[in-house]
Amino acid sequence: MGRVVVVSNRVAVPRRGEPTAGGLAVALKDVLKSSGGLWFGWSGETRKEPTSRETRRIRSAGIDYATIDLNEQDHKGFYAGFSNATLWPLFHFRLGLMEYDRKHAEAYRRVNRDFAEALLPLLGPQDTIWIHDYQLIPLAAELRALGAKQRIGFFLHIPFPPFAVLSALPDCDKLLKDLLAYDLVGLQTRRDLAGLVNCFSEGLGLEVDAEGGVRGESGGHMRRTQLAAHPIGIDTRGFATLARKAAFTPETQRLVKSMGDRALIVGAERLDYTKGLPHRMRGVAALLANFPEHLNNVTYLQVAARSRNEVASYRDLKRELDSLAGRINGDYGTFDWTPVRYVARAMARDTLAGFYRAARVGLVTPLRDGMNLVAKEYVAAQDPEDPGVLILSQFAGAAETMDGALLVNPLDAQAMGETLDRALRMPLAERRDRWTRMMSGLEEQTAMRWAENFLTELEELPLSGEELI
Ligand code: G6P
Repeated sequence: MGRVVVVSNRVAVPRRGEPTAGGLAVALKDVLKSSGGLWFGWSGETRKEPTSRETRRIRSAGIDYATIDLNEQDHKGFYAGFSNATLWPLFHFRLGLMEYDRKHAEAYRRVNRDFAEALLPLLGPQDTIWIHDYQLIPLAAELRALGAKQRIGFFLHIPFPPFAVLSALPDCDKLLKDLLAYDLVGLQTRRDLAGLVNCFSEGLGLEVDAEGGVRGESGGHMRRTQLAAHPIGIDTRGFATLARKAAFTPETQRLVKSMGDRALIVGAERLDYTKGLPHRMRGVAALLANFPEHLNNVTYLQVAARSRNEVASYRDLKRELDSLAGRINGDYGTFDWTPVRYVARAMARDTLAGFYRAARVGLVTPLRDGMNLVAKEYVAAQDPEDPGVLILSQFAGAAETMDGALLVNPLDAQAMGETLDRALRMPLAERRDRWTRMMSGLEEQTAMRWAENFLTELEELPLSGEELI
């Protein structure tokens, strides 16, 4: 049996004094620990010199970590450029925000090649390689070009759009062909799987076979790639315990005290335009405008962790939110009540867990999202005796399975206001019923189960079934 090798742009290298890792990192670490595995990726450092193949290695709790520094210019084109100003908006259906620069596309490919060159010497013939997310789509093709024969799987954490959207990207067929270098491509939902199948069909003329795979040419070989939906979960028990304990921390106690008798509506995510934060604020404003009985009786806390500040659209969003929050507070607030509490900083995981538990409503309304783990964490954090209500966007991957949530279209502010009113008035019996349904799903579909299912499917596929053409 070989090792599992996980590759992602960001690597959760353990650092002293840093807050506990998220559920996804914990699940991957558990898998790596049991196989004596390796986690490879970017060190978080850039330098003026060209990217070298030299890796920094550390071993911690039975896992090897290997990271590389990247050349500053390449990193800019790869990360702020192609990954986050081209692919991120494109895959989230936001063509109006998508930028394209051929130099960035080249830097993206170069960094993927650098990753492949640095990783290859660390691989054993029996290893199973698991590559994560849109920053690294061409990595398998680059590894295969260097002779890698191992099983390689890919999981996309964000949505996959249909061809009508993807085709806005110059050379999008190249990106699709890159996927053919994998043995298994995993997506979050059936909707994403349908998007990818549509792209293979319309973009490359490849049809999916009865077993859910496609055969096509990649790097001079005919290969078969299995496609599958593998919805990601959280460490449900772990998060529930964290929230139970966090209810007694000074932060949560202070929050609860500051609320008085008012109900808390909570939202927490990276400050990202896919999360629909301005729409959410407009939804809260619609609640206050149309249901005056909630005036002075409700507070909406939005935690928005600053993110990708080097990309212009993220800076624009910050300004928009600053002004919207100020306007709503100016229009509806009173001298002793602030309807919107807006914190544009990251917060510790356990603090958030306590806040989720204290909140009567979890408001999770992205315009488009691969899965959305905040929705799952909010549910896991609830007190089973008196659970809160989840309001969830129909455009989050989580909406495919979380049938106890109140679903909304975030573009409809009036509907969001009405749904908030319904959630705030929902009787205990209905809250319990909805929560129990969602919680039993979350207890089955954990992050650990997700990782095991993906790796089992990958390891059971025939070894690199490639034929020369
Ligand atoms: C999303 C992406 C991840 C990414 C994370 C944080 O969840 O799917 O790949 O790591 O956002 O974004 P950042 O750009 O800071 O890595």
